[in-house]
Amino acid sequence: MKHYLSGRLNVNLVGLRLANPTMLASGILGYSAETLESIAESGAGAVVTKSVGLKPQKGYANPTVVQANCGLINAMGLPNSGIDEFVNEIRLAKTVLHAPLVVSVFGFSEEEYATVAKKAAEVGADAIELNVSCPHVKETGSEIGQNPEILAKVVWNVKAAVDKPVFVKLSPNVTDIADIAESAVKAGADALTAINTVKAIAIDTETFMPILSNKRGGLSGPAIKPIAVRCVYDIYERVKVPIIGCGGITNWRDAIEFLLAGASAIQIGTAIAIKGCNVFKTITHGMEAYLKRKGFKSVNEIVGLSHHS
Ligand SMILES: Cc1cc2nc3c(=O)[nH]c(=O)nc-3n(C[C@H](O)[C@H](O)[C@H](O)COP(=O)(O)O)c2cc1C
Repeated sequence: MKHYLSGRLNVNLVGLRLANPTMLASGILGYSAETLESIAESGAGAVVTKSVGLKPQKGYANPTVVQANCGLINAMGLPNSGIDEFVNEIRLAKTVLHAPLVVSVFGFSEEEYATVAKKAAEVGADAIELNVSCPHVKETGSEIGQNPEILAKVVWNVKAAVDKPVFVKLSPNVTDIADIAESAVKAGADALTAINTVKAIAIDTETFMPILSNKRGGLSGPAIKPIAVRCVYDIYERVKVPIIGCGGITNWRDAIEFLLAGASAIQIGTAIAIKGCNVFKTITHGMEAYLKRKGFKSVNEIVGLSHHS
């Protein structure tokens, strides 16, 4: 692996070798092999694709994204080409990428999740991330991830269908995220990603109407960072599998905060829309300098440190 040099920032995430702990979050620029490659070349330690389902899906009409004070509210409606088309992008991505490729999948039943995951794994996905947390599409996403029994069935079916690591991406829109995390791990999840967006709405004061075509959407960006850090902190106290922190990370200090809370790696989404792809390099350089200044030889030494000191 070209970028995997022995160094302070190297992470072994359930067998995936990351040159550094930063990853592209699902749904932001992860539509094609070309964009995935450009993100990896910008310095991401791993990349996650946009969520893909069994059949092609157009998504919602515009507007699908609205700017909030400290972030974005989106309700895209999971637009995607369907796995039978998307396998071509996965194959192509595997020939050009020098970083691990995680394919995010969703379905409307446990069988659908397993079928999509199997097809993605067969053409080279290094890991599967289950989107059981999208807050704005009926009968999938968080409607599955909010119910521990249904979630366990999905995870169990996917684990039986693929021999690659399975990450389960959790929703913050639940009473106790650690309970849900525990169900996912008992069913076989190898790692957990926390969090997806927080349910939200924006209303146009001139027209008196919700702005998004779907009315409700999910809030991302700096506004949700403290919620996401708390989720990681809660999950770390309950389960032993690695956690991938996500939500509002825009600079190295945010990334370090997630690691101290218990994350082994972090994902970045909205910050790319705000700051561009350079965000990966500025964050990794900042993390490296911090670790050096504090006298740590490896980034792994600070994972969960806020629980012990
Ligand atoms: C425009 C947009 C599209 C997204 N699409 C997906 C998706 O397809 N699958 C998924 O699991 N998460 C999706 N997300 C959620 C992000 O991956 C991430 O969990 C969330 O935005 C919080 O991280 P951030 O604050 O760094 O953006 C999307 C987020 C945004 C803003």
